[in-house]
Amino acid sequence: MKIFLRFTLILIFYSLNILSLTAAEKSHELLKPGWSFKGFFGKFDRASLQRGYQVYTEVCAACHSMKYLSYRNLFETGGPEFSEDQVKIIASQFEVVDGPNSEGEMFTRPARLSDNFVSPYANDQAATAANGGAYPPDMSVLVKARTGGADYIYSVLMGYENPPAGISLDDGVYYNKYMPGNKIKMAKPLSAGAVEYIDGTEATEEQMSKDVVAFLSWAAEPHLEARHKIGFKAIVYLIILTILVYFSMKKIWSRIESKV
Ligand code: HEC
Repeated sequence: MKIFLRFTLILIFYSLNILSLTAAEKSHELLKPGWSFKGFFGKFDRASLQRGYQVYTEVCAACHSMKYLSYRNLFETGGPEFSEDQVKIIASQFEVVDGPNSEGEMFTRPARLSDNFVSPYANDQAATAANGGAYPPDMSVLVKARTGGADYIYSVLMGYENPPAGISLDDGVYYNKYMPGNKIKMAKPLSAGAVEYIDGTEATEEQMSKDVVAFLSWAAEPHLEARHKIGFKAIVYLIILTILVYFSMKKIWSRIESKV
């Protein structure tokens, strides 16, 4: 009995310890705005992806490349699903260097559907030099590359604050609650009205952050919807199989049991 009591006390002590630890961690817990694409039946919200592309191209693309995406991805199933004609117009607004032509010269031409997204800088060094020594990471798969994924990127966008007393920041360094180390060399990129949404949605900070992160999540995992569909089919198949196996097992064993 004594041992039992001691054991219970130890258990209670440990669970309290774990509880207090999680409470301490909670102060830095990422913001979770709730994503339509999370969960077993998760799907992207097309309108949000289209607005997210608008935010990326009008704001983030000034510094961040997305070089693994090509323009035609924008009308493929499972993505923002712009129409092909819309994407042709979008692509034609960008210039790519091509060549050499028959005279051996490089030339520029409007981008085509098959071209990759045009990067803002010629190379990583130029990008770093133009941003005070900090490299703006390519955003093609950034959501997959960071712990916390979509929640983390959303939190960084919403996490700009005045630095707490006693912390001084160099020029071009900003305080961010969710960036590891709390210091980021990117000025707050989004504030209300930074874009004027084509579909008339109000461009609040939350709305733009949510839309652009949804767009980045799709870019990092373009086959998410197809994967969810296959998962669903596989589970239905397994349920039917389980039922069949259960009844055939009952039938087979019923003969043996009746003899005993
Ligand atoms: C003026 C240039 C500029 C613009 C515009 C800009 N960024 Fe950045 N961004 C940077 C730089 C530079 C860094 C690297 C900061 C660092 O390492 O301290 C960065 C870092 C980030 C990070 C942190 C990544 C990490 O390492 O964890 C995220 C997330 C991010 N940017 C998202 C965005 C989004 C989304 C937009 C558009 C809404 C945007 N940025 C617009 C320059 C920019």
